[in-house]
Amino acid sequence: MDIKVTPCSDNQRKPIPTDDNALGFGRLFSDHMFLMNYDPDRGWHNARIEPYGPLSLDPASMVLHYGQEVFEGLKAYRGADSSVRLFRPRDNYERLNRSCERLVIPPVDVDLMVEATKQLVMLDKAWIPRSEGCSMYVRPTIIAIDPFVGVAPSQTYLCYIIVGPVGAYYPEGFNPVGIWASADYVRAVRGGMGEAKTGGNYAGSLKAQAAAKAEGYSQVLWLDALERKYVEEVGTMNIFFKINGTVVTSPLTGSILPGITRDSVMRLLTHWDMPVQERMLTIDELFAAGADGSLEEIFGSGTAAIITPVKEIAYKGDKLSVGDGTTGPVAQRLYDSILALQYGTGEDPFGWSERIDG
Ligand code: COI
Repeated sequence: MDIKVTPCSDNQRKPIPTDDNALGFGRLFSDHMFLMNYDPDRGWHNARIEPYGPLSLDPASMVLHYGQEVFEGLKAYRGADSSVRLFRPRDNYERLNRSCERLVIPPVDVDLMVEATKQLVMLDKAWIPRSEGCSMYVRPTIIAIDPFVGVAPSQTYLCYIIVGPVGAYYPEGFNPVGIWASADYVRAVRGGMGEAKTGGNYAGSLKAQAAAKAEGYSQVLWLDALERKYVEEVGTMNIFFKINGTVVTSPLTGSILPGITRDSVMRLLTHWDMPVQERMLTIDELFAAGADGSLEEIFGSGTAAIITPVKEIAYKGDKLSVGDGTTGPVAQRLYDSILALQYGTGEDPFGWSERIDG
């Protein structure tokens, strides 16, 4: 399918931010967006890139009532030599299709979505920041648009991609953050939607997120929903614990998000011959490892979060401090190596980084 491109006129163009330190995350969007429609007769059709602007939706659109929606998050990076790269984009679109499957949304063509991403990013490449840790965030989304308030899968859908310049996700920058383990709220239960990237998982997290904020913590550490004792993931990232020399992370039990950065972390650690284990870890074992000195590091991974070190965990009034509160060596090595891959300055043994500027 061809992608029809309608560039915006000069007076539709918005000012491109010049101060990378003031970008923050997720509030600025570029001049164009990709759109594509689905109906049962034509399948996915009318792929186009148009000036960025509001969507016109019927107020009865099903996504607005029952949340039939999936999304992704990936980034485009500008190297020091001005090259432009995507990181593992196919993996994002393959995961999007797995989310579609869970939400009964028709799958998209992965090649077309990668191509749409490339064309959109290159059209708005002037928006890609240059500073380390800054990038252009890419947000593909699919929403159900049948005007119908009955509970059933929609027949029609809108797929769109928006992009915008971002810096660090957390206000702390890339410095260590504190996280708060929720004893009362749960994110997802096996058999639910936890492994799909869908808005409902995030809507359901807001109450606990507010409680974490009120206690002075950046994010929620979710425990499993059944026994409420195994550490699973953090609000916007997967989570790793280095205990006695081994890096431990929760297995993909069905209730946690299969992060692409999570997979990159595990493969890099294995490549470096560092022991890495997917296993269930209880919050009590974690606090015990903190008390006996075997807990060496904690860090999170995600597209938005990149590698974010954790300095403290709070749980039911107890606090677990990690090391001396600074970034540990494994987190630092992963952060440096992943950034080097993403910006094209380091060796790429896995072929993860895809140069798209010609
Ligand atoms: C990402 O890391 O890209 C995410 O989608 C997490 C978040 C911003 C919702």
